[in-house]
Amino acid sequence: MIKISNTIYKIIEINKKYIKKSNNTILILGSGKGIWEKYLTSKGNKMYSVDKIYNGRKNFLKTNIFSKIFVFELNFFDKKFDIIISDICCNISGIKEKDHCFFLKLYYKLLEIINIFLKKKGTLIFKFMNFCNITDRFHILNELFDYVKHTKLSSSKRKSSEFYSICKNYKK
Ligand SMILES: C[S@@+](CC[C@H](N)C(=O)[O-])C[C@H]1O[C@@H](n2cnc3c(N)ncnc32)[C@H](O)[C@@H]1O
Repeated sequence: MIKISNTIYKIIEINKKYIKKSNNTILILGSGKGIWEKYLTSKGNKMYSVDKIYNGRKNFLKTNIFSKIFVFELNFFDKKFDIIISDICCNISGIKEKDHCFFLKLYYKLLEIINIFLKKKGTLIFKFMNFCNITDRFHILNELFDYVKHTKLSSSKRKSSEFYSICKNYKK
């Protein structure tokens, strides 16, 4: 049996429901094999990407977003973005408290990144695992954005705790 990755269906759903328009300058953190990047390029967006393992194409940085010099490195693109997407995940340990801490660390890193690199009225979309009431910790997003929704995609596996935060209209 051929196993088809559902990665592509997730970005199709995100694009259809939450991005809609084309011609955006988009930064993807955790661009992996570039499936999302290729899809969003085909929809008329200008893509920039970061991944710590996979090599990318044009406008790509191979680095760890938790490195001390990451924000400095991101200046290399010399851009502010309409949309910042994080599809970064940890190797889920199964120890909920440990995985919870990873996504909190990611959340605080994203706050640091959007403060410098997200345009006014921009959009932040990021993946997280929804356990240990983690969304209670995301309350600052409601002050930073006009619209915040934590949602499970219909293209995600039914049993999975994988959620995406959709934050639109950055107030800056
Ligand atoms: C689920 S995959 C993303 C798949 C991607 N959406 C695509 O279109 O192929 C997550 C990616 O995040 C990357 N990643 C994980 N931790 C990272 C970190 N600290 N810094 C940069 N990239 C990271 C991994 O190398 C992996 O490629």
